[in-house]
Amino acid sequence: MSKPKNAEAVVDRARPIDHQKAHEIQAFGHLSRLPNALSQNAARQSVENLNQVLADTITLRDLYKKHHWQVAGPTFYQLHLLFDKHYEEQNELVDTIAERIQMLGGITLAMAADVAETTIIPRPPKGREEVPVQISRLLHAHEIVLEEARSMARQAAEAGDDGTNDLLVSDVIRGNEKQVWFVSEHLVDVPLVKAD
Ligand SMILES: [Fe+2]
Repeated sequence: MSKPKNAEAVVDRARPIDHQKAHEIQAFGHLSRLPNALSQNAARQSVENLNQVLADTITLRDLYKKHHWQVAGPTFYQLHLLFDKHYEEQNELVDTIAERIQMLGGITLAMAADVAETTIIPRPPKGREEVPVQISRLLHAHEIVLEEARSMARQAAEAGDDGTNDLLVSDVIRGNEKQVWFVSEHLVDVPLVKAD
């Protein structure tokens, strides 16, 4: 006959083991080698570049959400919706870039404080701003991302990292160019009711 289990031991088995601590399994900036037929130098350069474009994309994404919440004026409704659409698209980009970093054996930046230290997009004030200022900030941020992404795409192609080149060209560059078009048309000063 089996011994009845001690009730306390049974309950103990169901208890979550929380507050656990251990060393990191991979330090930031160190590459783990994957069998992907890429040189370590190519992977390292791509990881570094992608972390920069990741920090700037997270910042641009969050700038869209800030403006989605804080927009004011007669174009409130359309801009409220457009800013949120672009936020969602930037959010998709964030995930695509971050997962590329991991698949190259690198480590993604993730937390707000680390992003804030890394991004080169100027920090906006906490308060609300007028629509033309909001849009100017967004366009400046897009231009920063586009400029760096184009030179990173060329570097990736030269190093033989075609996957990173494709991601930067097809997703980051084309996506940002389209958003620039949609947003910048709002700063064209055309009459609303009576033609000039
Ligand atoms: Fe919302």
